[in-house]
Amino acid sequence: MAAPETKKRVYIKTYGCQMNVYDSERMTDALAADGFAPTDRMDEADLVLLNTCHIREKAAEKVYSELGRIRVMKEEAARSGRNVTVGVTGCVAQAEGAEIARRAPVVDLVVGPQSYQHLPRLLGEVASGRRAVETEFAIEEKFAALPKATRSQTRSRGVTAFLTIQEGCDKFCTFCVVPYTRGAEVSRPVAAILDEARRLADAGVRELTLLGQNVNAWHGAGEDGRAWGLGELLFRIAEIPGLDRLRYTTSHPRDMDDALIAAHRDLPALMPYLHLPVQSGSDRILAAMNRKHKAADYIRLVERIRAARPDIALSSDFIVGFPGESEADFEATLRLIEEVGYGSAFSFKYSARPGTPAALKDGAVEEAVMAERLARLQALVDAQADAFNRTAVGRVMDVLFEKPGRGPGQLMGRSPWLQPVAVEAPPERIGTIGRVVIDALVTHTLVGTLVDPPAGAWPAQMAHSAETAP
Ligand code: SAH
Ligand code: SF4
Ligand code: F3S
Repeated sequence: MAAPETKKRVYIKTYGCQMNVYDSERMTDALAADGFAPTDRMDEADLVLLNTCHIREKAAEKVYSELGRIRVMKEEAARSGRNVTVGVTGCVAQAEGAEIARRAPVVDLVVGPQSYQHLPRLLGEVASGRRAVETEFAIEEKFAALPKATRSQTRSRGVTAFLTIQEGCDKFCTFCVVPYTRGAEVSRPVAAILDEARRLADAGVRELTLLGQNVNAWHGAGEDGRAWGLGELLFRIAEIPGLDRLRYTTSHPRDMDDALIAAHRDLPALMPYLHLPVQSGSDRILAAMNRKHKAADYIRLVERIRAARPDIALSSDFIVGFPGESEADFEATLRLIEEVGYGSAFSFKYSARPGTPAALKDGAVEEAVMAERLARLQALVDAQADAFNRTAVGRVMDVLFEKPGRGPGQLMGRSPWLQPVAVEAPPERIGTIGRVVIDALVTHTLVGTLVDPPAGAWPAQMAHSAETAP
């Protein structure tokens, strides 16, 4: 009998935002072509990659404690004659470069987000005994080189998928490392986006989330010869058969143009949920953050979006304790939250990041004050989220079934508003959209009952999206 094929195995641990999740999948694809099979067990991997996040100090420090554990594992493997290669990718790699290998000698490889297409070559360098560090900024090259997988190679990753359409950021909010770790704003061309969207649809994806650090700054030359923004692009992507649901993240308030707002009104496939970070409700703090808009501008924008799509659920990011934030500034943030009414929100204590302008500002807010403000803010948004989720009870809604649930015979899906929904349904319903009546809210999960006709008898939700395209 032939010996079983021994393939090299790669384990990737992903930190940070959806962009990193997407990049990890693409690295998995690129390495598959190089003979690596993915594994979810770090202790059996020949190559361990940490795809890292630099956004807050805590996120960056996690990497070093993980590298401490990996050093022990690598030494154990070496004793049994197995060599493990250790790499750091992502935003810490970009920000700290060779410094990482100095601080953690276990690291063989440091690769920034713009250089993943060079991974196979860099692994070759490591194999020949060199330490490889690459943090060049050539983002266009990344877009040109990475979407290599052919139609047949694209592995199905389930019912939902991310697709990066834009990378980098030119906004330079004074607290943020992203413009430094991800470089200048670059939009991916329409043809490449449509090609990847079609491949994902063919592989069984029903819900596509378009990604970008500033996704609504995306722009490109349209197929009709006109300049397109994200609104036009969404209409075009919705024509692809199979893609029943579209989302996009993360948006900047200043880039919400009329065409995009109109898409929320006219494009049924565009789900009624929008992550629109505002960070603060104080004009003084917004100015110090370089957000380039006032609290009232944001509230007017929310009104326009709600006029286009009245049932839209909004979410946001908030930072408490930005340098100089007074109690009055913080209360302005609470007032903005009261006025907008969020379906969910993410909130963070300010973390000074090396190299950012805010890190040089006076007026540091005490840790205890930050903790107290964060708790008050979270209590308010939690109450709003709970009230929002409660309005779902008793309603009938479309649920996209994504995976088996915890209970026997149960599936987990998502509502149009991104709420998790648990429903008793047969496994063959995964990948389909069902009509569900919501019976209860159990902590943060909706629990419902399937009320639609059997699979196949129900027309695909949003089947008419193509008719409404421009
Ligand atoms: N591009 C997105 C945000 C990317 S970072 C946008 O503009 O909204 C995700 C969130 O992390 C930010 O919205 C912000 O709330 C938070 N964040 C970024 N830098 C931070 C810092 N230095 N300290 C605390 N939170 C931060
Ligand atoms: Fe960071 Fe601001 Fe750019 Fe968002 S818009 S990535 S917060 S600099
Ligand atoms: Fe973190 Fe980089 Fe994303 S810093 S949030 S992984 S862009």
